[in-house]
Amino acid sequence: MTNTILNFHTATGHEVLAAAGKKYLRPGGRIATDKLFEWANFQPGERVLELGSSFGYSAIALAKSYHVKVVGVEKNPDSVACARANICAAGLENQVEIIEGNIFNLETIPGKFDYVLAEAILTMQSPLGKAKILAEIHNKLKPGGKFLSHELLARDKEEQIHDDLAPVIRVNSTPLSESNWMTAFATAGLQVQKCQTDSMNLLNLKRIFQDEGIFNTTRIMWNILTQRAIRKRVLEMYQVFHKYQHELGYIILCAVAH
Ligand SMILES: C[S@@+](CC[C@H](N)C(=O)[O-])C[C@H]1O[C@@H](n2cnc3c(N)ncnc32)[C@H](O)[C@@H]1O
Repeated sequence: MTNTILNFHTATGHEVLAAAGKKYLRPGGRIATDKLFEWANFQPGERVLELGSSFGYSAIALAKSYHVKVVGVEKNPDSVACARANICAAGLENQVEIIEGNIFNLETIPGKFDYVLAEAILTMQSPLGKAKILAEIHNKLKPGGKFLSHELLARDKEEQIHDDLAPVIRVNSTPLSESNWMTAFATAGLQVQKCQTDSMNLLNLKRIFQDEGIFNTTRIMWNILTQRAIRKRVLEMYQVFHKYQHELGYIILCAVAH
């Protein structure tokens, strides 16, 4: 298994949170993911492509609960190794495959899918990057296939939020307003059928507890309190989240490919 030593000064925000022990790295937490899954209406045997599958938790939940087949694409080799170990431990090797790769090269993945799932991955792309990935997603979906998306929302102050957030997360974090997300989807031929927004509580203790459970929440808090480098980065992120607490949110969308 690969195990890269993280430079906490340059690591991305999600890498820092993962190093602190956080398993779920999406702005609306598991509640938002569950709502997306409810909208999807998965049927056993259908195929799901997951972008930025991280440690494989969504892929495993999908395979277990809905008996679908999942292909995950993830570029971080440590996350890929961890996801594969989690899939083995869950006995789901016949249902879930993780490909180490880049979501900008989706054309290399064979076949078309009934669903594409992407959580907390489009936000970190530039407008051009978002458009390219959305076009690729459209190409990978069967006609009538659904795109399930879970991203960061900027209700207002898009530019200011980008300017403050990107440096602390160390990725090109560019959350959009609801109407701009809708437009980006529509431009790629993805017609939004359902959409929900709510506040962003990624670093809120109650949400962490709901997502991670008591044991892992205690571990995360311990790591943040005792490891200075992690604490510094988490505090930087927290300050920006707090500054824009009224503007930042999460958005989930279910869109159909035409
Ligand atoms: C913010 S995390 C979200 C992880 C997971 N989807 C979740 O909701 O918990 C983004 C994930 O996308 C992966 N990622 C970022 N850019 C990628 C790319 N170009 N190709 C494949 N994976 C990528 C990162 O390594 C990370 O695991």
